Amino acid sequence: MHLSLQSSPLAEIAVDWLVVCLWEKEALTGAAATIDAKLGGLVSKLCEQGDVAGKAKELTPLYQCPALAARRLLLVGLGQRDRCDFAALVSALGAAAKVLSSKPVQRIAMALPEGVPGLGADVVLRACAHGFYQGSSSAGIRKSTNDRTPPTEVCFVASASGASLEPSVRRAEIEGRAANLARELVNIPPCDLYPESFAERALAIAGKVGLDVKILDEPALHAERMNSLLAVACGSERPPRLVVLQHRKGGAKPTLGLIGKGVTFDSGGLSLKTTDQMVDMKCDMAGAAAVLGAMQAIAELALPVNVLGVMALVENMPSGKAMKLGDVLRARNGKTIEVLNTDAEGRLILADALAYAVDLKASHLVDLATLTGACMVALGYDVAGLMSNNDAWSQKVLAASQAAGEKAWPLPMFAHYKEMIKSDVADMKNTGGSRYAGAISAAKFLEEFVGETPWVHLDIAGPSWAEKENASRDAGGTGCFVRTLIELARTY
Ligand code: BES
Ligand code: MN
Ligand code: ZN
Repeated sequence: MHLSLQSSPLAEIAVDWLVVCLWEKEALTGAAATIDAKLGGLVSKLCEQGDVAGKAKELTPLYQCPALAARRLLLVGLGQRDRCDFAALVSALGAAAKVLSSKPVQRIAMALPEGVPGLGADVVLRACAHGFYQGSSSAGIRKSTNDRTPPTEVCFVASASGASLEPSVRRAEIEGRAANLARELVNIPPCDLYPESFAERALAIAGKVGLDVKILDEPALHAERMNSLLAVACGSERPPRLVVLQHRKGGAKPTLGLIGKGVTFDSGGLSLKTTDQMVDMKCDMAGAAAVLGAMQAIAELALPVNVLGVMALVENMPSGKAMKLGDVLRARNGKTIEVLNTDAEGRLILADALAYAVDLKASHLVDLATLTGACMVALGYDVAGLMSNNDAWSQKVLAASQAAGEKAWPLPMFAHYKEMIKSDVADMKNTGGSRYAGAISAAKFLEEFVGETPWVHLDIAGPSWAEKENASRDAGGTGCFVRTLIELARTY
């Protein structure tokens, strides 16, 4: 899918589909009014008849428009203007792209909506473009015949100052591909995506976009004292990997550290999950996928910053070699951990990965992890839990997520929660020991491995995976928080 810009009159653009947006409860303006005039008042007639209302995600295809050079016209409702934001645009154009890409389509032109409250044309363009990437890629990556045809070209038509939108088009393309990379990685079945194959993919991407890359295999992980990570990997036939990517374009400036949980399959280990809990557990590497997607984009955008990306890759399996309940592990930073549930494996691998990032002199940390079901109990599907040891840094991350139209919500980190992970035999235990505050006790555990470094933990168990499809995207991996990380690096 290639994005481009054009400023020729809408009626003269020869494409398979011309996309024009409508606002709810408003007279036709801008592109909609122009097209209405060309079509002899057809759009206003449809509005008057009540066939078209402009409600959010409402789609009205018109297959015969003799006055247009485009073969067909799609009217897309954006809802009420004062309720429209980045995420609403992504949803509306995602819905459009989902329908258009379900039949053969080559070229699409879209009139950029104008007057979106609080959003400049450059941001509107990126939101719409993201909708097209989101809606036209499918989870059916192993189907013999793909059920989607992403358009070869999406051409945005801006009424004025098209030239200044060029950087936005480029950024939109890079962000769209980065998020779809993360989605693809989550959707690849666990027989094909395991620590070694994930690391190979990261290596190939690093070579292509010019990131420094180091891959730690088992002996290297032993040498680096990552015993907590290694203990999780023990039960699997698949050896673990730690992928370290570096983007060094910020000179003497501080380094942003991005750390991702990459459990390529979480069976629970000896604390085995039930079938219902296990079915979707190929998604347990979504944090690592988000880090890889963001690193790819950061390199392609050549952002003038230093970013370190660490992906902790393991498969969590039961076997005769698996870690046991009651085992005590010594993590890289010397702290000891009593294992009371092998299904609380994410925090065990992140413990070493975070300590490693601190040792590599990251100045600020963000980890992303599908860490707890408890976070979904607290916040539901679409919202990530945000936990931190530093208010200023957590505000900065929240601001980036808001700019990217992705939802995160702070959970408290009061000192008393630390009592939940107290162990009788070691420095801490790997469960909270209670059904309550499970997302927070997990974060309190991670906090033990970041020292004084400002750190934010994003629990993405909810938003990283869509159990059901909706109007704007397929079920499966969502590519969540890739855009937030890119925005964070851009403003770092
Ligand atoms: N990967 C899971 C968390 C998860 C659950 C992600 C549902 C996505 C959807 C994690 O490793 C896990 O199993 N967490 C346990 C922790 C518990 C044993 C303390 C959980 O949430 O039940
Ligand atoms: Mn688990
Ligand atoms: Zn897990």
